[in-house]
Amino acid sequence: MSVTTDRSLYKSLRLGLWRAMQSAAPQAEQGEYIDPLDLPPVDINGWDPACREALESPEMASFVDALRAGERSVRDSILGDLAEYYDMTPEQARKACLNWEETSVDEWRRTNASGSDAGRVEFYRTTQSWSFDLSWWAYLQSEGRADPSNVLAFRFAQQHAPGRRHLDFGSGIGITSQLFARNGWSSTSADLSSTLLDFARFRHQNRGDEIAYIDLHTDKLPAGAYDAITAIDTLAHVPDVYTTCRELHAALGPDGILVANFDIRAAAPETEWHLYDDDLRPVYDLRRAGFVPIGPAGYGMVGYRKTPTRGLGHHLRVAGAWLMLVSPPRRLARALSQPLLRSLVRLRTRLRAHQAAGQP
Ligand SMILES: C[S@@+](CC[C@H](N)C(=O)[O-])C[C@H]1O[C@@H](n2cnc3c(N)ncnc32)[C@H](O)[C@@H]1O
Repeated sequence: MSVTTDRSLYKSLRLGLWRAMQSAAPQAEQGEYIDPLDLPPVDINGWDPACREALESPEMASFVDALRAGERSVRDSILGDLAEYYDMTPEQARKACLNWEETSVDEWRRTNASGSDAGRVEFYRTTQSWSFDLSWWAYLQSEGRADPSNVLAFRFAQQHAPGRRHLDFGSGIGITSQLFARNGWSSTSADLSSTLLDFARFRHQNRGDEIAYIDLHTDKLPAGAYDAITAIDTLAHVPDVYTTCRELHAALGPDGILVANFDIRAAAPETEWHLYDDDLRPVYDLRRAGFVPIGPAGYGMVGYRKTPTRGLGHHLRVAGAWLMLVSPPRRLARALSQPLLRSLVRLRTRLRAHQAAGQP
C-alpha cells in the first residue's frame, strides 16, 4: 500500500471512530451557561490539538475582533449590543444570556413548535432567546471556554474550497459571515429566523461589516452561487435533511464544499429543537443528496465535496453510504458497539480532565 492510501485509510478510520463515539454519547451540556468572570483562567493544555491550534491562530484573533464593537472588550460589546437592541440594561442582558435555555423552552411551547411545521417556523421567526444564547456562546468561544467552531470551519474552507464565495446556512447572529468577510471572502448569511437575521444586521452595521442576507422563509438560495457553505450546529434543526441538502448542493458551484455537523442530543424538554438523537439517517440523507466526505473539520464537523448526482458513480456511492450508515447490519453493529463506545467516550473525557488538571 502506498503512503497516500495508508493515510487516507487512516483518515477514514479515524472519521468513522470519531463519528461513532460522537453518536454514542450525544448529550452536550444543558442548563444555565457559565460566566467566565466567576472562573479561574482557562487552561487549554488538555485541548484537542486542532482546537488549540485554531485558538492560537490569526483567524481566531479576527473572530475575536468581529465580536468587539470599537474599543470595548468582547464581553462589554456583546452585552452592549443586546442591551441596546432589546432595550434593557447590560446586567439584564447578562442574566438573559445565562438563562437563555429556560426562555427558549417557553418560546418553543408558546409557538407549539413540536406540534406542527407551522409552529416550528413560527418559533424561529419570533425567537429572541437565541440572540442571547448565540452571543454568549461566541463570548465563551473567545475566552477559550468552547470549541472555536467557526474558526475551524473557516480554516477548512480556506484549504479546500475552489473559490472565495461563502454562504453561512443557519447563520444565527452572523458571526461566521463576519469571519469569512474579514478574511478575503464574500459572504452571505441565510437563516429561517427573521429575528436572528435582524439582530445580525444590527451587529454588522455597528461594526461596518458588508454581508449579504437571505431570509429563507421568503427567498430561495441562488443556484451555483457559492464555493463553500458552512452549516454549523444547524442541520439538526432541519426536518427534511435530504431536501435541504439538495438545495445546498444546487447552491454550490462545481467542486464546492459543505462544512457541517449534526448537533444530536438525547430527547428532553430542553432539547426539543434538536430533531435527531442519532445521526446515521441525517448523514445518509446528506450523502445521498450528492456530498462525499473530504475529512473531519473539528468540533464534530465534516467537510464534504459536491459531486454529480447522476450516473453509476453516484448510485454506487449512495449504495455504499446506505450499507455503512443505515442498512440493517449497520444498525445491528451500532447497537452492539454502543456500550464499548460509551466507555471510550468516558475514558477520553477522564483523560482530558486529567491532562487539563496537569496530572501525568
Ligand atoms: C444553534 S443555531 C447556530 C447558529 C450559527 N450557525 C452558529 O454557529 O452560531 C441554529 C441556527 O439554525 C437556524 N435554523 C433552524 N432551522 C432552520 C432551517 N430549517 N433552515 C435554515 N436555518 C435554520 C436557526 O434559526 C439558528 O440560527
